[in-house]
Amino acid sequence: MRVVSGIQPTGNLHLGNYLGAIRNWVRMQDEMEKANRAQAASGSADRNQCLFFLADLHAISMPHEPGELRRATLEMAAALVACGIDPDRSVLFNQAQVPAHPELQWLLNGTARIGWLNRMTQFKDKSGKNREGASAALFTYPVLQAADVLLYQATHVPVGEDQKQHLELARDIAQKFNNDYASEDAPVFTLPEPISPPQAARIMSLRDGSKKMSKSDPSEMSRIDLADDPDTVLKKIKKAKTDPEPLPSEVDGLAERPEALNLVTIYAALSEGTVEDVLRDHGGAGFGAFKPALAELLVETLQPISTRFNALLNDREALDAILARGASRAREIAAPTLASAYTALGLVRG
Ligand code: TYM
Repeated sequence: MRVVSGIQPTGNLHLGNYLGAIRNWVRMQDEMEKANRAQAASGSADRNQCLFFLADLHAISMPHEPGELRRATLEMAAALVACGIDPDRSVLFNQAQVPAHPELQWLLNGTARIGWLNRMTQFKDKSGKNREGASAALFTYPVLQAADVLLYQATHVPVGEDQKQHLELARDIAQKFNNDYASEDAPVFTLPEPISPPQAARIMSLRDGSKKMSKSDPSEMSRIDLADDPDTVLKKIKKAKTDPEPLPSEVDGLAERPEALNLVTIYAALSEGTVEDVLRDHGGAGFGAFKPALAELLVETLQPISTRFNALLNDREALDAILARGASRAREIAAPTLASAYTALGLVRG
């Protein structure tokens, strides 16, 4: 298995990223380690591998401040390590140090169709009413995302629900490229599978249950950041939008109650249970009782992460070294696939 995933280093790591993606990254890293030990014991030379990266090249598709991007890239690296990504076991790097990403994107631009990109809902959401004024990078960014995973022959890509459409596109591009330029028995690219955690694939805004929790939401109250202190967590949960009804005992009772469903989903994901489990324990409770219980669970999860995060942030040299080492490894792993793509297209590289 080759597991590959990325996150944009814009804003802070929030609960949606954590429950929807990063926690899964850490789990897969740990599972790969176990599988590798078993494989080594049985004498097999095959190794599973995880690569995780900061999508800093993606971040320039929206207006940004360069100093802020530099700071956020290091902060996000610290946040990932604080969440449990171990740079000794996983390859952790930022895209800008691996030029093979934008290089492969250009090669794939010949295969991706404008019609496919036109269907991407994230472009529609992010460009809003000002499509003509959006950057070309915002439009072609899903092709870079395809390059991000195809470059490493990713088999599995842990992402939240909102990234599934981009992964489908990566599969379409890989398939068309293989059909057009490779022989059936020697495809250039592997088709990657998205994997989303069932409970937490979509964590919604605390202010509006119809919008996903997002770092680009102007309201800080709409999300829980992983570095929030306990008082801030409690305040945000207490102010989270809800309705006057108590929690139902059955899941059907949450239909048409998106904010209540979101809080119950967060509780379920944090307690490693299902929405049904939470309703069995808390059905009939009002939000006056449920919200403090949820805040307590959140603080329990976040406290150790934010302590590690703050310690790592003060060690800039260590963070630079982690990213440089990861990038060097990523460049090595990427080289053969990039070379095959050039050759398949008939490009002469000397
Ligand atoms: P990004 O930076 O927006 O989000 C990183 C990861 O967090 C998940 N996520 C959520 N999951 C559940 N609920 C939410 N409210 C929520 N918000 C974010 C996302 O699904 C994602 O898994 N384009 C990508 C980054 C990227 C990437 C890639 C991902 C670039 N190249 C290659 C996978 C493979 C993005 O902007 O994610």
